[in-house]
Amino acid sequence: MREIQVDLSKIQANYRQLKALVAPSEVMAVVKANAYGHGMHEVAQALEDISVDALGVADLEEAIALRAAGIKSRIMCWILSTEDDFEMAAEQQIELGISNLAVLESALAAGVKQIHIKVDTGLGRAGFPRSDWEQVFTKLSGMSIGLFSHLANTSEEDDRKQEQEFLAAVELAEKSGVKISQRHLAATAGALSYPSMRYDMVRVGIGLYGLNPWDDREFGEYGLQPAMRAVARVVNIKRVPAGQGVSYGYRYRTDKETTLALVPFGYSEGMPRIAVGAKVLIAGRQFEISGRVAMDQFVVDVGDHQIALGSEVVIFGDPAIGEPSADQLGASAGTINYEIVTRIGGRAKRVYL
Ligand SMILES: Cc1ncc(COP(=O)(O)O)c(C=O)c1O
Repeated sequence: MREIQVDLSKIQANYRQLKALVAPSEVMAVVKANAYGHGMHEVAQALEDISVDALGVADLEEAIALRAAGIKSRIMCWILSTEDDFEMAAEQQIELGISNLAVLESALAAGVKQIHIKVDTGLGRAGFPRSDWEQVFTKLSGMSIGLFSHLANTSEEDDRKQEQEFLAAVELAEKSGVKISQRHLAATAGALSYPSMRYDMVRVGIGLYGLNPWDDREFGEYGLQPAMRAVARVVNIKRVPAGQGVSYGYRYRTDKETTLALVPFGYSEGMPRIAVGAKVLIAGRQFEISGRVAMDQFVVDVGDHQIALGSEVVIFGDPAIGEPSADQLGASAGTINYEIVTRIGGRAKRVYL
């Protein structure tokens, strides 16, 4: 009745394409948040099968779950709390991206081998502020660490300022006697836009899944393909007269006699409730969602088109073959493709192609 179809071969192809685009830099494949909704274990295994350089997740729990599932590749995580099990991180050879002194001390005490220091170069989120850099690098003098930061993707000018800050951190670390084994700054948008910011490694998430990291720029030129399709089947069809209100609050009312198709995919599956007017593909034609999305379902006015019960409805997929995109669905709900793919699921089965 409803499925999230994930084509792992497209994720593998996207990884290879990204590797070629940023060579000779390494590529960390970011599989946090259930691989942006694509399934963390399945995606990690598919990438390990093609010798991924490294995997990136947010939490230590995600990293440990990957090791428990038998993943042997390098794994790094970067949202850490002082309550995390750093002995386990050391034992499981998980690399830690560290943003504060309390976590740094716990990780060193637990014998974590590979540490990456995150410096805040302007995003104002995680990362050591500049005022801490000297103290941190002095503490790590003589050690070999990774050094990284994350861009705000605000404007080229702001990104370049962040790069200057990043270079200042590299210089200060080296002056303090720290050996930097890997420098990494760019995620998908930065990796594609700025060759100078690829350094030793890039950390790509959204691009790996074939999705556009920008909401104001085209993405077709990079040869990356969306790996996820959300589909459902029409479960009800009925003719209604003009003036029929549709769904809660009557955000839509028919202006003539017409046919309404019911699609069992609601906000409980992650479909945004406010995506009124988003387009879906039924029988080769795009139609708008009519009225509010409900918990389990939405309605599509298909006019006088002959739509059969059981017809496939593509909620989003690959725009290159005429399907609506996750970007368009995001835009119709005032959000971005990242949020669409990570929230999609609920009762919809994930099926791997
Ligand atoms: C530190 C860090 N690096 C890399 C990424 C991947 O970003 P993107 O999906 O834009 O490639 C993220 C995602 O939010 C992140 O938090």
